[in-house]
Amino acid sequence: MNKTKVSPSILAADYADFGKAVSLIEGSGAQWLHMDVMDGSFVPNLTFGPPLLRALKGKTGLFFDVHLMTNQPSKFFHEFAQAGAGAITFHYEAETHSQKFLSEIRSLGLKAGIALVPSTPVSLLEELLPFIDLALIMTVNPGFGGQELIPECIEKVKKLAKIRKESGFGFRISVDGGINEHTALKAKEAGADTLVMGSAFFSCSDKNGLVKRLQN
Ligand code: DX5
Ligand code: ZN
Repeated sequence: MNKTKVSPSILAADYADFGKAVSLIEGSGAQWLHMDVMDGSFVPNLTFGPPLLRALKGKTGLFFDVHLMTNQPSKFFHEFAQAGAGAITFHYEAETHSQKFLSEIRSLGLKAGIALVPSTPVSLLEELLPFIDLALIMTVNPGFGGQELIPECIEKVKKLAKIRKESGFGFRISVDGGINEHTALKAKEAGADTLVMGSAFFSCSDKNGLVKRLQN
C-alpha cells in the first residue's frame, strides 16, 4: 500500500515566477512537483522542458515527477534524467515499444511511469505491470489545466487497482486532471495514491491544510 502523495502541477503556476511556485509547493508539505511537458503535437499545447527542470532543481529538494505529453517521448529521457527528474511518465499512446522504454527509464536510475488518456483501456497495461513504478490515469483529455474531471475515468482507477491487487505489484496509481479536494477523495476511494493537482492547488488559500488532509 503506497502512502498518498499530492503532486502539484506547475502547469497552473505563475509563469512569471516558477521559483515562487517551488516555494509554495515546499511550504505546503508536498514532496513532489509535477511537470506537465507538452509538445504541441501529442496535445494541442506547448509548455516547458529540461532547462526549466534544471533551473528549478537547483533550488529545491522536491521530487520531479515529469509527465511527457509528447510524441516520441523516448527522445527526451536522457535530457530530463540529466536535468534532475525523479520519475518520467510517458504516454502508452505515444510509443509502440513501451516495455523497452520503461526499462530504459529505470536503467537511468529513475522511476518509470506510463500514462493513459481517457480513451485507452487499463487492460492494455497487463503486459507492462512488472516494468512500471507508476501508472497515470488521465482524468481529463490532456492539454490544459482547469478542466472538469471525467467521472467515468474513476471507474478506470477502480479497474486498475483491482488488477494491481491481483498482480501483487506495488506500482503507484496517479490521477491527473480536475483533481480537487472532492474528486481526490473519490479517486483515493477507487485506489489512487498519487494526486496531481494544478488549479485546485495553486488557487487554494490553505495549501498546507489541503495537502495534510489528502496525504493522511
Ligand atoms: C492536462 C494536465 C492537467 C494538469 C492538472 O494535460 O496534465 O491535468 O496536470 O491540471 P488541473 O489540476 O488544473 O486539472
Ligand atoms: Zn500531468
